[in-house]
Amino acid sequence: MDIEYVRSRFIKHFDGLTGSVYASPGRINLIGEHTDYNGGFVFPGAIDKGMIAELRPNGTNKVRAYSIDMKDYVEFGLNEEDAPRTSWARYIFGVCREMIKRGVDVKGFNTAFAGDVPLGAGMSSSAALESTYAYALNDLFGDNKIDKFELAKVGQATEHNYCGVKCGIMDQFASVFGKEGSLIRLDCRSLEYQYFPFNPQGYRLVLLDTVVKHELASSAYNQRRQSCENVVAAIKQHHPKVEFLRDADMTMLEDVKNQVSAEDYMRAEYVIGEVQRVLDVCQALERDDYETVGAKMYETHYGMSKLYEVSCEELDFLNDIARQCGVTGSRVMGGGFGGCTINLVKEELYDTFVTRAKEAYKEKYGKLPKVYDVVIADGSRKLC
Ligand code: GLA
Repeated sequence: MDIEYVRSRFIKHFDGLTGSVYASPGRINLIGEHTDYNGGFVFPGAIDKGMIAELRPNGTNKVRAYSIDMKDYVEFGLNEEDAPRTSWARYIFGVCREMIKRGVDVKGFNTAFAGDVPLGAGMSSSAALESTYAYALNDLFGDNKIDKFELAKVGQATEHNYCGVKCGIMDQFASVFGKEGSLIRLDCRSLEYQYFPFNPQGYRLVLLDTVVKHELASSAYNQRRQSCENVVAAIKQHHPKVEFLRDADMTMLEDVKNQVSAEDYMRAEYVIGEVQRVLDVCQALERDDYETVGAKMYETHYGMSKLYEVSCEELDFLNDIARQCGVTGSRVMGGGFGGCTINLVKEELYDTFVTRAKEAYKEKYGKLPKVYDVVIADGSRKLC
């Protein structure tokens, strides 16, 4: 996907004039899943797949938006009551509203956009879309006065207020802050972050996409968040300083075992373990110890599957294949309920693993998984 592709559609669809073009990427996450809204650590990186949008102010108070991939056109106003019904357009509308709430004088514009980050694969296509428009509106209408963290928060608030997903900050943060060749460890409580150059000698990162997306993923996501908050409320009665599960440990959790549901207990057990695993992985990376990194990834998969219960049969199947093939690390990536596994594979095993996974998956589910090699790339930017 390139600028010319988007530009040619923009010109054709509107009045023949060109505008400004912006891009934002999707993301991977090496480890640290469902930790962001618990104030914990995440370890994502932006990828070489994302969204590109062209925009041109149109002198009205209407947004005229064209989705090139869906060949769908939606027009909407900029007031709260003008919210469009079409789900892709709600992301753009939400970003407009959140920018307006932050004092940006957003006016009407024509826009067309396209993307090559797969939808619903756990690579944050929606965050890529939000970041693209947040970055663009800041440039076109806001004199770039909104800082990068706030742009990420605009995307997150769009999810919360216009799309019904109570997500954390990881996806939008990674999309805005991405840097070529580096993963970023973010402390979601303090918002401190650190770039980690990631170029493991002798290993490759590959995503295997189950090509399944389960219905109700967003409501199940919100329920997981609610479970975490229930446990925090119980622990807080004994330890008033605990604001997030990040601040709790297993002893504190044990102490409230009888006050929380068995399900909420399991959820919290996973999160407390996962927060620590991110730190363990960072330490292991500093000594090039990829065996430990991989072992932690398998632990995460186990926790997401059995304790947090956000995996699915197809993801577990691909994880089992990875283990059987001797892959160093493998786990479900992102929110779960479908999407991809992320795999840390020794170079020499790569071909065997990918071939075996494709064959076995096809045999069992009658379709091929999609395979994506990970290239870690830059975050939100203006292209021209
Ligand atoms: C989704 C959310 C993120 C994060 C992940 C799980 O991608 O948007 O905020 O919670 O799930 O780690």
